Amino acid sequence: MKKGLVKVVAGLLAGMLLLGGCDLIPKGTDGPHEVPLTIAADFTKKEGKGGNWVTYGDAKVTLKDGKAVVTDRKASNAGIAVPCPDYRGNTIVTSAEATTENDSLTLSMRYEIFGNVTYVNIAGGANEGGSVSITGRVEIPANAENALIYLEANDVRDYTVSSFTVSIDGEFNDLTSVPVESLQDPTQTASLAAAYADYFKFGVASPATVMTNPNDGFRKLVLTQFNSVTPENELKPENVLDAAACKGDPAKYNEAPAVHFDAAKPILDFCKENGIQMRGHTLVWYSQTPSWLFYENYDVNGNLASRDLMLKRMENYIDSVINWCETNYPGVIYAWDVVNEAAADDGGMRDCYWKQTIGDDYVEKAFEFARKHAPANVQLFYNDYNEYQTSKQEDILNMLKPIAAAGNIDGMGMQSHINSGLDPENYVGAAKRYADELGVIIHITELDVAAPKSLNPMYDQGVYMKKLFTAIIEADKAGLPIECVTVWGLTDDMSWKSAAKPLLFYGNLSPKPAYEGVMCAVNGGEVAKPADYQEPVVDTTPFVEDYEDQKHIGGPRYSSVQKIVQGGYESDYCLENSEGYAEYDGYSIDVTNYVGHTIKVSFAIKSKAGTCKCTADIDGTWPTIAEVQTGTDEWVLGEGEFTIEEGTASLSIYFESVDMNPFYLDNVKIEVVG
Ligand code: XIL
Repeated sequence: MKKGLVKVVAGLLAGMLLLGGCDLIPKGTDGPHEVPLTIAADFTKKEGKGGNWVTYGDAKVTLKDGKAVVTDRKASNAGIAVPCPDYRGNTIVTSAEATTENDSLTLSMRYEIFGNVTYVNIAGGANEGGSVSITGRVEIPANAENALIYLEANDVRDYTVSSFTVSIDGEFNDLTSVPVESLQDPTQTASLAAAYADYFKFGVASPATVMTNPNDGFRKLVLTQFNSVTPENELKPENVLDAAACKGDPAKYNEAPAVHFDAAKPILDFCKENGIQMRGHTLVWYSQTPSWLFYENYDVNGNLASRDLMLKRMENYIDSVINWCETNYPGVIYAWDVVNEAAADDGGMRDCYWKQTIGDDYVEKAFEFARKHAPANVQLFYNDYNEYQTSKQEDILNMLKPIAAAGNIDGMGMQSHINSGLDPENYVGAAKRYADELGVIIHITELDVAAPKSLNPMYDQGVYMKKLFTAIIEADKAGLPIECVTVWGLTDDMSWKSAAKPLLFYGNLSPKPAYEGVMCAVNGGEVAKPADYQEPVVDTTPFVEDYEDQKHIGGPRYSSVQKIVQGGYESDYCLENSEGYAEYDGYSIDVTNYVGHTIKVSFAIKSKAGTCKCTADIDGTWPTIAEVQTGTDEWVLGEGEFTIEEGTASLSIYFESVDMNPFYLDNVKIEVVG
């Protein structure tokens, strides 16, 4: 099907669509309607007048010279959104151009899924000389309703948007007249919590929408499967801090920020009524914490608050949150993530407002205050991701050792956003190091495992889950104090990484092979091979791409964008990799068909970035296959070899640059040499 306008039949769904500004589609009719394959915000038209944009959250939008000026942003996620409800079941590419004083902007997606709400970060863009340009791509689940893409920031400062588009990537999958699936009865599935009762609690992260949802299936799933719940967003500072009160009377709340629990109450009520314990997440974090908290008079246009003032605000915030929960819901919260993600990705401590205002000891101080104010039986955790990687683990251990020595920490929270390339033995080894060197217990706090890009992704993920949980059970039996394993979400479609299908249940609540794998680890047995199982083929034909046919077989790693452009190495065309969220959002090629062999990778690459690399995507290690010095914007040749171990379920290699500069790739050849 060609790009252009596609005729579709609105059918039953038309009445359900909330279209914001998409005026091509007549609302509430049963006749055919047209779905544009690109939706572009038109900032000459007022909201609701066919401009394809809406105000998102608490912000003020003024139109000026064809641009949208967004001011009075009360939260970092408030701003402008482009609704794209007809795009469910499609991969989309979205772009925005803006000017701003915020350090970075992010394109994110919000959609409703059987009455729940899910948020997915798509791509971020750094502020370069006052402007931000972002492009990213994402898959919208087939059952996602009322999807919209919104522009958020790391801060609450103004931004002005000049362009904002959402387009279908590839061929349009028209689901506009296809009803969403029906939910399955979740009470017929055996309980994970019961199966693991001898080892640890089995927990789940849930949004509050599960508790207020007219579909009771989600509540039944929680009650059947889990005995620990983590609110996915509702106890984060951005939802707990009372912006109106603090900013309305900054003198009154100067040292003790006002708090409220409107967002978290439905989950706290549910846990209290059903006798389920809760992990409190999270008190001190660089993200999802409004920047005004760190300023004098809660005003981001003034000065940053002093160390003394921020220590007071921190202590009072920790005290009031822990104690409001304890007073109103005694005994419900058994553990708090006191500090989240304080370690940087590239070594040392992450730069953030807490560090800038208080100093490097802010983590120590947070634990000191939490210990002082928390009831004795509430466990205090540090929580982080990539926590199993050797170098990051080293940094985390160094940071936490004095806190452990002071007796102010009880547990290490291993988030565990992983993929099936991570060796379960290495992972469990990392857990053991935390327990041994800090003398703390372990919670696996946010487990999700991206499905491999293999021929049988769901089955292979299930087989991996069995291996992973077998290793966890063995370690637990050998004395490793793992006391809770929490999965980060109920269903794949509700996941913050829904495109990676990383959880245990399908969107319709039925169990996945991943669930079966977790059950097999404790009960014995093997994950059933699906009827449509495809035998992995070892195909040793070389992989060759020179882009002269203007096509590429590989795809984006995370949210990068690939384009075929002119100016190839010794030929007309090459591949451009740009945008995305981080430098490692590169160009990825699946090499699973070469499992058991040594491959040689050769390529031509050019970039303004100082170095470019070809890397194997094994979670937690990322071995370099070839590294080349670029930076001159001239073509450079690279090559390297890599042995793919027998038994690897799937493997991708990817090309990346050392910074966010685009890179250009040509003459990629992957051949078996051993
Ligand atoms: C995520 C939530 O799942 C999303 O809904 C939200 O938009 C962003 O945050 N590490 C954490 C969690 O500690 O709080 C994050 O949760 C995922 C990464």
